[in-house]
Amino acid sequence: MASTESPQTIRGSFPDDFTFGVATSSWQIEGSSATRAESIWDRFAKIPGAIVDGSSADPACDHLNRVEEDVDLIGQLGVGAYRFSVSWPRFMPGGTGAASRSGAGFYDRLIDLLLERGIQPLLTAYHWDLPQSLQESGGWLHPDMPHWFADYCQALGERYGDRVSHIATLNEPWVSAFLGYAAGIHAPGVVNAGQALEVAYRLMVASGHGVSALRNAGVGNPGIVLNLTTVRSEDPRAEKARDHIDRLQNTLFTDLLAGRGVSDEVRRSTDILTDWSFVTDEGVEAAATPISWLGVNYYTPIRVALPRESDQTAGVGQDTVVYPACPPASLQPRGPLTTMGWEVDPKGLRDTLVETAAALPGLPLWVTENGAAYADRVLDGDVYDPDRISYLSGHLAAAAEAIDEGVPLQGYCAWSLMDNLEWAEGRTQTFGLVHVDPETMQRIPKASFHFYADIAKGER
Ligand code: FCB
Repeated sequence: MASTESPQTIRGSFPDDFTFGVATSSWQIEGSSATRAESIWDRFAKIPGAIVDGSSADPACDHLNRVEEDVDLIGQLGVGAYRFSVSWPRFMPGGTGAASRSGAGFYDRLIDLLLERGIQPLLTAYHWDLPQSLQESGGWLHPDMPHWFADYCQALGERYGDRVSHIATLNEPWVSAFLGYAAGIHAPGVVNAGQALEVAYRLMVASGHGVSALRNAGVGNPGIVLNLTTVRSEDPRAEKARDHIDRLQNTLFTDLLAGRGVSDEVRRSTDILTDWSFVTDEGVEAAATPISWLGVNYYTPIRVALPRESDQTAGVGQDTVVYPACPPASLQPRGPLTTMGWEVDPKGLRDTLVETAAALPGLPLWVTENGAAYADRVLDGDVYDPDRISYLSGHLAAAAEAIDEGVPLQGYCAWSLMDNLEWAEGRTQTFGLVHVDPETMQRIPKASFHFYADIAKGER
Protein backbone atom coordinates (compact mmCIF):
# COMPACT_ATOMS: atom_id res chain seq x y z
CA MET A 1 0.00 0.00 0.00
CA ALA A 2 1.20 3.51 -0.76
CA SER A 3 2.83 5.28 2.14
CA THR A 4 0.75 7.93 3.86
CA GLU A 5 1.51 11.49 2.80
CA SER A 6 1.06 14.45 5.13
CA PRO A 7 -2.25 16.34 4.86
CA GLN A 8 -0.33 19.44 3.74
CA THR A 9 1.41 17.57 0.94
CA ILE A 10 -1.89 16.10 -0.20
CA ARG A 11 -3.67 19.47 -0.14
CA GLY A 12 -0.77 21.03 -1.98
CA SER A 13 -1.09 18.56 -4.84
CA PHE A 14 -4.60 19.82 -5.73
CA PRO A 15 -5.61 23.09 -7.38
CA ASP A 16 -6.80 25.88 -5.06
CA ASP A 17 -10.40 25.66 -6.21
CA PHE A 18 -10.67 21.88 -5.77
CA THR A 19 -13.55 20.84 -3.49
CA PHE A 20 -13.19 18.24 -0.76
CA GLY A 21 -16.43 16.74 0.47
CA VAL A 22 -18.01 13.84 2.28
CA ALA A 23 -20.96 11.62 1.33
CA THR A 24 -23.91 9.64 2.76
CA SER A 25 -27.27 8.38 1.49
CA SER A 26 -30.79 8.55 2.88
CA TRP A 27 -31.66 4.90 3.61
CA GLN A 28 -28.25 4.27 5.11
CA ILE A 29 -28.45 6.99 7.76
CA GLU A 30 -31.88 8.51 8.27
CA GLY A 31 -33.88 6.01 10.34
CA SER A 32 -37.42 7.19 11.24
CA SER A 33 -38.97 4.97 8.58
CA ALA A 34 -42.39 5.36 10.23
CA THR A 35 -42.48 9.02 9.16
CA ARG A 36 -42.25 8.23 5.45
CA ALA A 37 -43.66 5.77 2.91
CA GLU A 38 -42.16 2.31 2.49
CA SER A 39 -39.19 1.82 0.15
CA ILE A 40 -38.02 -1.29 -1.68
CA TRP A 41 -35.16 -1.57 0.79
CA ASP A 42 -37.56 -1.68 3.77
CA ARG A 43 -39.40 -4.52 2.07
CA PHE A 44 -36.21 -6.33 1.05
CA ALA A 45 -34.80 -6.05 4.58
CA LYS A 46 -37.74 -8.11 5.86
CA ILE A 47 -36.70 -11.16 3.82
CA PRO A 48 -34.88 -13.49 6.23
CA GLY A 49 -31.18 -13.53 5.39
CA ALA A 50 -31.35 -10.67 2.87
CA ILE A 51 -29.38 -8.43 5.23
CA VAL A 52 -26.58 -10.40 6.87
CA ASP A 53 -27.14 -9.19 10.43
CA GLY A 54 -30.91 -8.70 10.14
CA SER A 55 -30.64 -4.88 10.32
CA SER A 56 -33.58 -2.78 9.21
CA ALA A 57 -33.90 0.90 8.28
CA ASP A 58 -34.29 1.76 11.97
CA PRO A 59 -32.53 3.34 13.64
CA ALA A 60 -29.72 3.47 11.02
CA CYS A 61 -27.84 6.54 12.34
CA ASP A 62 -30.99 8.25 13.61
CA HIS A 63 -29.90 11.11 11.38
CA LEU A 64 -33.41 12.49 11.06
CA ASN A 65 -33.38 13.40 14.73
CA ARG A 66 -29.71 14.33 14.86
CA VAL A 67 -29.35 16.39 11.73
CA GLU A 68 -27.94 19.42 13.54
CA GLU A 69 -25.30 17.40 15.36
CA ASP A 70 -24.37 15.73 12.07
CA VAL A 71 -24.10 18.98 10.14
CA ASP A 72 -21.96 20.31 12.97
CA LEU A 73 -19.65 17.33 12.45
CA ILE A 74 -19.47 18.10 8.72
CA GLY A 75 -18.61 21.68 9.69
CA GLN A 76 -15.85 20.44 11.99
CA LEU A 77 -14.52 18.34 9.15
CA GLY A 78 -14.05 21.60 7.26
CA VAL A 79 -15.20 20.21 3.92
CA GLY A 80 -16.60 22.38 1.16
CA ALA A 81 -19.35 19.97 0.06
CA TYR A 82 -21.73 17.38 1.49
CA ARG A 83 -23.24 14.77 -0.81
CA PHE A 84 -26.53 13.34 0.48
CA SER A 85 -29.58 11.77 -1.12
CA VAL A 86 -33.24 12.57 -0.84
CA SER A 87 -35.44 9.65 0.12
CA TRP A 88 -38.10 9.55 -2.60
CA PRO A 89 -40.66 7.90 -0.26
CA ARG A 90 -40.03 10.65 2.32
CA PHE A 91 -40.21 13.54 -0.13
CA MET A 92 -43.09 12.24 -2.27
CA PRO A 93 -44.77 9.42 -0.33
CA GLY A 94 -47.16 8.50 -3.13
CA GLY A 95 -44.26 8.00 -5.56
CA THR A 96 -45.97 10.53 -7.84
CA GLY A 97 -48.06 13.58 -6.99
CA ALA A 98 -47.68 15.90 -4.05
CA ALA A 99 -44.61 16.33 -1.91
CA SER A 100 -44.94 15.71 1.82
CA ARG A 101 -44.70 18.89 3.87
CA SER A 102 -42.64 17.35 6.61
CA GLY A 103 -40.55 15.19 4.27
CA ALA A 104 -39.66 18.04 1.93
CA GLY A 105 -39.21 20.30 4.96
CA PHE A 106 -36.56 18.00 6.40
CA TYR A 107 -34.32 18.52 3.36
CA ASP A 108 -35.01 22.28 3.44
CA ARG A 109 -33.64 22.27 6.94
CA LEU A 110 -30.62 20.12 6.05
CA ILE A 111 -29.77 22.34 3.06
CA ASP A 112 -30.15 25.51 5.11
CA LEU A 113 -27.96 24.14 7.90
CA LEU A 114 -25.27 23.32 5.33
CA LEU A 115 -25.46 26.70 3.63
CA GLU A 116 -25.23 28.51 6.97
CA ARG A 117 -21.89 26.80 7.46
CA GLY A 118 -20.68 27.51 3.92
CA ILE A 119 -20.98 23.86 2.83
CA GLN A 120 -22.17 23.19 -0.73
CA PRO A 121 -25.06 20.67 -0.84
CA LEU A 122 -24.64 17.99 -3.53
CA LEU A 123 -28.01 16.31 -3.82
CA THR A 124 -28.66 12.85 -5.26
CA ALA A 125 -32.28 12.28 -6.28
CA TYR A 126 -32.20 8.48 -6.25
CA HIS A 127 -29.84 6.39 -4.14
CA TRP A 128 -31.76 3.10 -4.47
CA ASP A 129 -34.71 3.61 -2.08
CA LEU A 130 -37.57 3.45 -4.59
CA PRO A 131 -41.07 3.87 -3.15
CA GLN A 132 -42.47 0.35 -2.76
CA SER A 133 -45.73 1.53 -4.36
CA LEU A 134 -43.85 2.28 -7.61
CA GLN A 135 -42.18 -1.12 -7.45
CA GLU A 136 -45.63 -2.64 -7.27
CA SER A 137 -46.58 -0.72 -10.39
CA GLY A 138 -43.66 -2.35 -12.22
CA GLY A 139 -40.71 -0.31 -10.94
CA TRP A 140 -37.84 0.29 -13.36
CA LEU A 141 -39.31 -2.25 -15.78
CA HIS A 142 -42.32 -0.03 -16.37
CA PRO A 143 -42.00 2.04 -19.55
CA ASP A 144 -43.51 5.06 -17.76
CA MET A 145 -40.92 5.00 -15.01
CA PRO A 146 -38.72 7.63 -16.75
CA HIS A 147 -41.70 10.02 -16.66
CA TRP A 148 -42.50 9.33 -13.02
CA PHE A 149 -38.85 9.91 -12.23
CA ALA A 150 -38.79 13.14 -14.23
CA ASP A 151 -41.82 14.43 -12.29
CA TYR A 152 -40.03 13.65 -9.05
CA CYS A 153 -36.89 15.45 -10.30
CA GLN A 154 -38.97 18.43 -11.40
CA ALA A 155 -40.43 18.68 -7.89
CA LEU A 156 -36.97 18.43 -6.33
CA GLY A 157 -35.66 21.12 -8.67
CA GLU A 158 -38.56 23.46 -7.94
CA ARG A 159 -38.15 23.00 -4.22
CA TYR A 160 -34.37 23.11 -3.83
CA GLY A 161 -33.00 24.53 -7.10
CA ASP A 162 -32.72 28.01 -5.59
CA ARG A 163 -30.15 26.69 -3.12
CA VAL A 164 -28.67 23.58 -4.71
CA SER A 165 -26.77 23.97 -7.97
CA HIS A 166 -25.56 20.37 -8.36
CA ILE A 167 -28.16 17.59 -8.40
CA ALA A 168 -27.34 14.05 -9.53
CA THR A 169 -30.24 12.04 -10.89
CA LEU A 170 -29.11 8.52 -10.01
CA ASN A 171 -26.52 6.82 -7.87
CA GLU A 172 -24.86 3.83 -9.53
CA PRO A 173 -27.51 2.51 -11.94
CA TRP A 174 -25.23 -0.52 -12.48
CA VAL A 175 -25.90 -1.57 -8.89
CA SER A 176 -29.67 -1.04 -9.11
CA ALA A 177 -29.78 -3.12 -12.29
CA PHE A 178 -27.23 -5.88 -11.80
CA LEU A 179 -27.28 -6.42 -8.04
CA GLY A 180 -31.03 -5.73 -7.81
CA TYR A 181 -32.18 -7.73 -10.86
CA ALA A 182 -29.42 -10.18 -11.91
CA ALA A 183 -27.68 -11.25 -8.69
CA GLY A 184 -30.74 -10.54 -6.53
CA ILE A 185 -28.59 -9.49 -3.58
CA HIS A 186 -30.01 -5.96 -3.48
CA ALA A 187 -33.62 -4.80 -3.48
CA PRO A 188 -35.90 -5.78 -5.11
CA GLY A 189 -34.08 -9.13 -5.06
CA VAL A 190 -34.95 -10.31 -8.57
CA VAL A 191 -32.81 -12.90 -10.39
CA ASN A 192 -33.46 -12.33 -14.08
CA ALA A 193 -30.51 -11.22 -16.16
CA GLY A 194 -32.60 -10.12 -19.14
CA GLN A 195 -34.60 -7.85 -16.89
CA ALA A 196 -31.37 -6.48 -15.39
CA LEU A 197 -30.31 -5.26 -18.84
CA GLU A 198 -33.70 -3.68 -19.41
CA VAL A 199 -33.55 -1.97 -16.02
CA ALA A 200 -30.05 -0.64 -16.74
CA TYR A 201 -31.28 0.89 -19.98
CA ARG A 202 -34.50 2.26 -18.45
CA LEU A 203 -32.54 3.86 -15.60
CA MET A 204 -30.36 5.73 -18.09
CA VAL A 205 -33.41 6.88 -20.03
CA ALA A 206 -35.00 8.00 -16.76
CA SER A 207 -31.84 9.86 -15.82
CA GLY A 208 -31.95 11.77 -19.11
CA HIS A 209 -35.56 12.78 -18.52
CA GLY A 210 -34.60 13.71 -14.96
CA VAL A 211 -31.78 15.95 -16.25
CA SER A 212 -34.21 17.82 -18.52
CA ALA A 213 -36.72 18.21 -15.69
CA LEU A 214 -34.07 19.53 -13.33
CA ARG A 215 -32.90 22.06 -15.92
CA ASN A 216 -36.50 23.14 -16.58
CA ALA A 217 -36.87 23.73 -12.88
CA GLY A 218 -33.82 26.00 -12.88
CA VAL A 219 -31.15 23.64 -11.55
CA GLY A 220 -27.86 24.85 -13.01
CA ASN A 221 -25.85 21.65 -12.95
CA PRO A 222 -27.67 18.34 -13.29
CA GLY A 223 -25.46 15.26 -13.35
CA ILE A 224 -25.37 11.53 -12.67
CA VAL A 225 -23.22 9.26 -10.52
CA LEU A 226 -21.84 6.00 -11.98
CA ASN A 227 -19.72 3.29 -10.39
CA LEU A 228 -17.11 3.02 -13.10
CA THR A 229 -13.93 1.08 -12.59
CA THR A 230 -10.94 -0.14 -14.48
CA VAL A 231 -11.12 -3.82 -15.45
CA ARG A 232 -7.77 -5.62 -15.39
CA SER A 233 -6.61 -8.97 -16.66
CA GLU A 234 -3.11 -10.30 -16.97
CA ASP A 235 -4.05 -13.52 -18.70
CA PRO A 236 -4.76 -13.18 -22.42
CA ARG A 237 -7.03 -16.23 -22.16
CA ALA A 238 -9.33 -14.19 -19.91
CA GLU A 239 -9.46 -11.29 -22.35
CA LYS A 240 -12.94 -12.08 -23.66
CA ALA A 241 -14.33 -12.13 -20.15
CA ARG A 242 -12.46 -8.93 -19.35
CA ASP A 243 -13.97 -7.13 -22.31
CA HIS A 244 -17.46 -8.40 -21.50
CA ILE A 245 -17.21 -7.22 -17.90
CA ASP A 246 -15.80 -3.86 -18.98
CA ARG A 247 -18.72 -3.38 -21.36
CA LEU A 248 -21.40 -4.18 -18.78
CA GLN A 249 -19.68 -2.26 -16.01
CA ASN A 250 -18.57 0.84 -17.90
CA THR A 251 -19.28 1.32 -21.59
CA LEU A 252 -22.97 0.34 -21.47
CA PHE A 253 -23.43 3.47 -19.34
CA THR A 254 -20.89 5.84 -20.85
CA ASP A 255 -22.03 4.97 -24.38
CA LEU A 256 -25.64 5.82 -23.52
CA LEU A 257 -24.53 9.11 -21.97
CA ALA A 258 -22.45 9.94 -25.04
CA GLY A 259 -25.33 9.25 -27.45
CA ARG A 260 -23.73 6.08 -28.79
CA GLY A 261 -26.71 3.94 -27.73
CA VAL A 262 -26.29 0.23 -26.92
CA SER A 263 -23.30 -1.08 -28.87
CA ASP A 264 -23.38 -4.09 -31.19
CA GLU A 265 -20.81 -5.79 -28.94
CA VAL A 266 -23.11 -5.47 -25.92
CA ARG A 267 -26.10 -6.67 -27.91
CA ARG A 268 -24.18 -9.65 -29.33
CA SER A 269 -22.69 -10.76 -26.07
CA THR A 270 -26.06 -10.67 -24.29
CA ASP A 271 -28.31 -11.96 -27.07
CA ILE A 272 -29.14 -15.14 -25.16
CA LEU A 273 -30.66 -12.96 -22.44
CA THR A 274 -32.57 -10.29 -24.34
CA ASP A 275 -33.24 -9.03 -27.85
CA TRP A 276 -33.03 -5.41 -26.61
CA SER A 277 -36.38 -4.69 -28.29
CA PHE A 278 -37.17 -2.25 -25.49
CA VAL A 279 -34.52 0.17 -26.83
CA THR A 280 -36.10 3.02 -28.80
CA ASP A 281 -34.63 5.99 -30.67
CA GLU A 282 -36.40 8.36 -28.29
CA GLY A 283 -34.98 6.48 -25.30
CA VAL A 284 -31.43 6.59 -26.68
CA GLU A 285 -31.82 10.29 -27.37
CA ALA A 286 -33.20 10.96 -23.88
CA ALA A 287 -30.36 9.01 -22.22
CA ALA A 288 -27.89 11.31 -23.98
CA THR A 289 -29.43 14.53 -22.61
CA PRO A 290 -26.31 16.56 -21.83
CA ILE A 291 -25.22 16.55 -18.21
CA SER A 292 -23.14 19.24 -16.56
CA TRP A 293 -20.91 16.85 -14.60
CA LEU A 294 -20.38 13.18 -13.92
CA GLY A 295 -19.77 11.65 -10.50
CA VAL A 296 -17.54 8.58 -10.36
CA ASN A 297 -17.74 6.25 -7.38
CA TYR A 298 -14.54 4.22 -7.14
CA TYR A 299 -13.53 1.68 -4.51
CA THR A 300 -11.62 -1.09 -6.24
CA PRO A 301 -10.56 -2.33 -9.65
CA ILE A 302 -12.00 -5.52 -11.15
CA ARG A 303 -9.39 -8.20 -11.70
CA VAL A 304 -10.46 -10.91 -14.10
CA ALA A 305 -8.76 -14.29 -14.28
CA LEU A 306 -9.54 -17.72 -15.61
CA PRO A 307 -11.86 -19.67 -13.34
CA ARG A 308 -10.27 -21.37 -10.38
CA GLU A 309 -10.62 -25.14 -10.36
CA SER A 310 -13.54 -25.08 -7.97
CA ASP A 311 -15.33 -22.63 -10.27
CA GLN A 312 -14.63 -24.75 -13.30
CA THR A 313 -16.55 -27.58 -11.71
CA ALA A 314 -19.46 -25.22 -11.28
CA GLY A 315 -19.10 -24.21 -14.95
CA VAL A 316 -18.76 -20.50 -14.39
CA GLY A 317 -17.03 -18.17 -11.99
CA GLN A 318 -19.49 -17.67 -9.17
CA ASP A 319 -18.56 -14.03 -8.80
CA THR A 320 -19.51 -13.28 -12.35
CA VAL A 321 -23.24 -13.97 -11.94
CA VAL A 322 -23.46 -10.19 -11.69
CA TYR A 323 -22.14 -9.92 -15.25
CA PRO A 324 -24.72 -12.01 -17.09
CA ALA A 325 -23.56 -14.02 -20.10
CA CYS A 326 -19.91 -13.61 -19.12
CA PRO A 327 -17.53 -16.19 -20.61
CA PRO A 328 -16.14 -18.43 -17.84
CA ALA A 329 -13.98 -16.29 -15.60
CA SER A 330 -13.66 -15.35 -12.01
CA LEU A 331 -13.00 -12.14 -10.21
CA GLN A 332 -9.85 -12.51 -8.16
CA PRO A 333 -8.98 -9.47 -6.08
CA ARG A 334 -5.43 -9.24 -4.79
CA GLY A 335 -4.42 -8.17 -1.35
CA PRO A 336 -4.39 -5.92 0.52
CA LEU A 337 -8.15 -6.19 0.91
CA THR A 338 -10.63 -4.20 2.96
CA THR A 339 -13.17 -6.07 5.11
CA MET A 340 -15.53 -5.93 2.12
CA GLY A 341 -12.99 -8.15 0.36
CA TRP A 342 -12.23 -5.29 -2.03
CA GLU A 343 -8.72 -4.90 -3.37
CA VAL A 344 -6.97 -1.69 -2.37
CA ASP A 345 -5.53 -0.20 -5.55
CA PRO A 346 -5.14 3.59 -5.67
CA LYS A 347 -3.75 3.39 -9.19
CA GLY A 348 -7.12 1.98 -10.17
CA LEU A 349 -8.67 5.34 -9.32
CA ARG A 350 -6.18 7.17 -11.52
CA ASP A 351 -6.81 4.72 -14.36
CA THR A 352 -10.60 4.89 -13.96
CA LEU A 353 -10.55 8.69 -14.10
CA VAL A 354 -8.27 8.75 -17.13
CA GLU A 355 -10.41 6.14 -18.93
CA THR A 356 -13.63 7.99 -18.06
CA ALA A 357 -12.25 11.31 -19.27
CA ALA A 358 -11.33 9.60 -22.55
CA ALA A 359 -14.81 8.07 -22.93
CA LEU A 360 -16.57 11.38 -22.23
CA PRO A 361 -14.13 14.11 -23.28
CA GLY A 362 -14.46 17.51 -21.67
CA LEU A 363 -17.08 16.51 -19.10
CA PRO A 364 -16.28 17.84 -15.60
CA LEU A 365 -15.82 14.92 -13.18
CA TRP A 366 -16.15 14.47 -9.45
CA VAL A 367 -15.14 11.50 -7.36
CA THR A 368 -18.47 11.24 -5.55
CA GLU A 369 -17.51 8.23 -3.38
CA ASN A 370 -14.25 6.65 -2.33
CA GLY A 371 -13.39 5.03 0.97
CA ALA A 372 -12.77 1.81 2.82
CA ALA A 373 -14.40 -0.52 5.33
CA TYR A 374 -12.16 -1.72 8.12
CA ALA A 375 -12.94 -3.29 11.48
CA ASP A 376 -12.53 -0.39 13.89
CA ARG A 377 -12.14 -0.59 17.64
CA VAL A 378 -12.97 2.05 20.20
CA LEU A 379 -10.12 2.29 22.70
CA ASP A 380 -10.39 4.77 25.57
CA GLY A 381 -12.99 6.72 23.64
CA ASP A 382 -10.93 7.00 20.44
CA VAL A 383 -10.81 5.13 17.16
CA TYR A 384 -7.39 4.79 15.58
CA ASP A 385 -7.80 3.69 11.94
CA PRO A 386 -4.45 3.87 10.14
CA ASP A 387 -5.57 1.59 7.29
CA ARG A 388 -8.35 4.00 6.35
CA ILE A 389 -5.93 6.94 6.54
CA SER A 390 -3.54 5.13 4.24
CA TYR A 391 -6.38 4.27 1.84
CA LEU A 392 -7.47 7.92 1.67
CA SER A 393 -3.93 9.17 1.29
CA GLY A 394 -3.18 6.79 -1.59
CA HIS A 395 -6.41 7.50 -3.41
CA LEU A 396 -6.14 11.25 -3.03
CA ALA A 397 -2.63 11.08 -4.46
CA ALA A 398 -4.05 9.09 -7.39
CA ALA A 399 -6.80 11.67 -7.94
CA ALA A 400 -4.19 14.46 -7.97
CA GLU A 401 -2.16 12.47 -10.49
CA ALA A 402 -5.21 12.20 -12.77
CA ILE A 403 -5.61 15.99 -12.62
CA ASP A 404 -1.96 16.39 -13.58
CA GLU A 405 -2.65 14.20 -16.58
CA GLY A 406 -5.43 16.51 -17.70
CA VAL A 407 -8.55 14.92 -16.17
CA PRO A 408 -11.06 17.73 -15.41
CA LEU A 409 -11.66 16.59 -11.83
CA GLN A 410 -13.39 19.20 -9.70
CA GLY A 411 -14.01 17.53 -6.38
CA TYR A 412 -13.68 14.44 -4.20
CA CYS A 413 -16.12 13.09 -1.62
CA ALA A 414 -14.99 10.57 0.95
CA TRP A 415 -17.40 7.73 1.70
CA SER A 416 -18.65 8.07 4.30
CA LEU A 417 -19.28 10.73 6.88
CA MET A 418 -20.24 8.05 9.38
CA ASP A 419 -20.62 4.32 9.89
CA ASN A 420 -24.02 3.38 8.56
CA LEU A 421 -26.23 0.65 7.14
CA GLU A 422 -24.14 -0.93 4.42
CA TRP A 423 -27.11 -2.31 2.46
CA ALA A 424 -27.09 -6.14 2.44
CA GLU A 425 -24.07 -6.10 4.76
CA GLY A 426 -26.09 -4.36 7.46
CA ARG A 427 -23.96 -2.83 10.19
CA THR A 428 -21.10 -5.27 9.68
CA GLN A 429 -19.10 -3.02 7.35
CA THR A 430 -17.93 0.33 8.65
CA PHE A 431 -16.82 2.99 6.17
CA GLY A 432 -17.23 6.09 8.34
CA LEU A 433 -14.82 8.86 9.23
CA VAL A 434 -17.06 9.01 12.31
CA HIS A 435 -17.79 5.91 14.39
CA VAL A 436 -21.45 5.50 15.37
CA ASP A 437 -22.23 3.35 18.39
CA PRO A 438 -25.01 1.03 17.21
CA GLU A 439 -26.71 1.08 20.62
CA THR A 440 -26.31 4.64 21.89
CA MET A 441 -25.88 6.37 18.50
CA GLN A 442 -22.97 8.29 19.99
CA ARG A 443 -20.71 9.75 17.30
CA ILE A 444 -16.92 9.53 17.72
CA PRO A 445 -14.72 11.11 15.05
CA LYS A 446 -12.01 8.60 14.09
CA ALA A 447 -8.34 9.43 13.47
CA SER A 448 -9.17 9.43 9.73
CA PHE A 449 -11.68 12.24 10.39
CA HIS A 450 -8.92 14.43 11.80
CA PHE A 451 -6.57 13.46 8.97
CA TYR A 452 -9.15 14.34 6.33
CA ALA A 453 -10.09 17.54 8.18
CA ASP A 454 -6.46 18.66 7.96
CA ILE A 455 -6.56 18.12 4.20
CA ALA A 456 -9.93 19.79 3.70
CA LYS A 457 -9.05 22.80 5.84
CA GLY A 458 -5.40 22.89 4.86
CA GLU A 459 -3.72 25.96 3.55
CA ARG A 460 -1.47 25.33 0.60
C1 FCB B 1 -21.54 2.27 -3.03
C2 FCB B 1 -22.84 2.90 -2.59
C3 FCB B 1 -22.80 3.47 -1.20
C4 FCB B 1 -22.01 2.59 -0.26
C5 FCB B 1 -20.67 2.25 -0.83
C6 FCB B 1 -19.80 1.43 0.07
O1 FCB B 1 -21.78 1.33 -4.03
O2 FCB B 1 -23.22 3.92 -3.48
O3 FCB B 1 -24.11 3.70 -0.78
O4 FCB B 1 -22.75 1.49 0.07
O5 FCB B 1 -20.84 1.57 -2.06
